[in-house]
Amino acid sequence: MGFSLSRLFSAFNRDLAIDLGTANTLVFAKGLGIIVQEPSIVAINKDTNHVEAVGNEAKEMLGRTPSNIVAIRPMKDGVIADFEITEKMLSHFIKTAQKRSGLFNFFQTDVVIGVPAEITQVERRAVRDSAKKAGAANVYLLDEAMAAAVGAGLPVTEPTGNMIVDIGGGSTDVAVISLSGVVYSRTLKMAGNAMDEDIVQYIKRKYRLLIGERTAENIKTKIGSACPLDEPMEMEIKGRSLETGIPKTLVINDSEIRKALEDTVNTIIETIKIALERTPPELAADLVDKGIILTGGGSLLKNFDKRLREETNLPVSLAEEPLLSVVMGVGQMLSSPGLLERVCRKE
Ligand SMILES: Nc1ncnc2c1ncn2[C@@H]1O[C@H](COP(=O)(O)OP(=O)(O)OP(=O)(O)O)[C@@H](O)[C@H]1O
Ligand SMILES: [Mg+2]
Repeated sequence: MGFSLSRLFSAFNRDLAIDLGTANTLVFAKGLGIIVQEPSIVAINKDTNHVEAVGNEAKEMLGRTPSNIVAIRPMKDGVIADFEITEKMLSHFIKTAQKRSGLFNFFQTDVVIGVPAEITQVERRAVRDSAKKAGAANVYLLDEAMAAAVGAGLPVTEPTGNMIVDIGGGSTDVAVISLSGVVYSRTLKMAGNAMDEDIVQYIKRKYRLLIGERTAENIKTKIGSACPLDEPMEMEIKGRSLETGIPKTLVINDSEIRKALEDTVNTIIETIKIALERTPPELAADLVDKGIILTGGGSLLKNFDKRLREETNLPVSLAEEPLLSVVMGVGQMLSSPGLLERVCRKE
């Protein structure tokens, strides 16, 4: 095969795909796969406004910072709560990805970013501008639900209905997709983070013990569940006693954590049921066979799939890698220009 300049360039082409999530940001580089997977957290020095750490390093600092440093989650409820810091974070991750993929700014990098369906114009612009500042030539935005569906391997271009439920950190997105478009979608600003908060409140009320959000998340992932487990589980936790102010240890079990999570889990299930009621009949009929695909880290809550199956009588399955579906879906856009043009918006 003869020498071709475009082939040469494409060998160096490191287009990036990003899942900018409330809890985690992931970056996929064409030809390399996922090269960044870190918490969406930034530690800022309040005195100098300087970024002290981003991602894993910043998460370590959560709840443990000296008073002049704050660890911030710039994305909240699935949307951008702090523009300036989101911009800094995004640009940090893009630069990290460029470094890790051996790409400096020599070659044109296109960036595709998964964003929530209900993102505002102002937020779209903020995401685009921060990607451009970080060196992106072209920026495309893709609806997260569509990305999750593609990443989970659903046949999104076919004329059949597929329902995808993405339970993330900040939001739960329910979408019905058919013919490369989102036919119905609904966002609930409640997901994994709300469950953590439920646990903090429950432990405080019941045991007068204060725990941090990292401990709460740990409890949720280890013994949290949406309906009874085959084997009961227990766990030792540490916190600060509200009465004495002294650190204290106690043992909690799965059934009390299930109770703590009950309201949030019920609200998520209700949202899915409402989406089912509002799905156009032909597509609803498709769902009887094809069921519901769950994705997002929150869908890993033990027995959530079982509970949803019981409540809807539909087949429910968990995506293969719930934490990776969105970034894998956005990543697929990089090598399918046809689909990219059809489902993404160039900013
Ligand atoms: N095994 C588990 N059980 C329960 N929850 C889990 C588990 N693993 C991760 N999670 C939760 O999943 C959430 C993160 O999921 P994910 O990375 O999909 O969110 P995100 O994409 O950053 O958020 P969003 O889509 O709302 O912007 C966190 O709340 C985390 O605690
Ligand atoms: Mg997400």
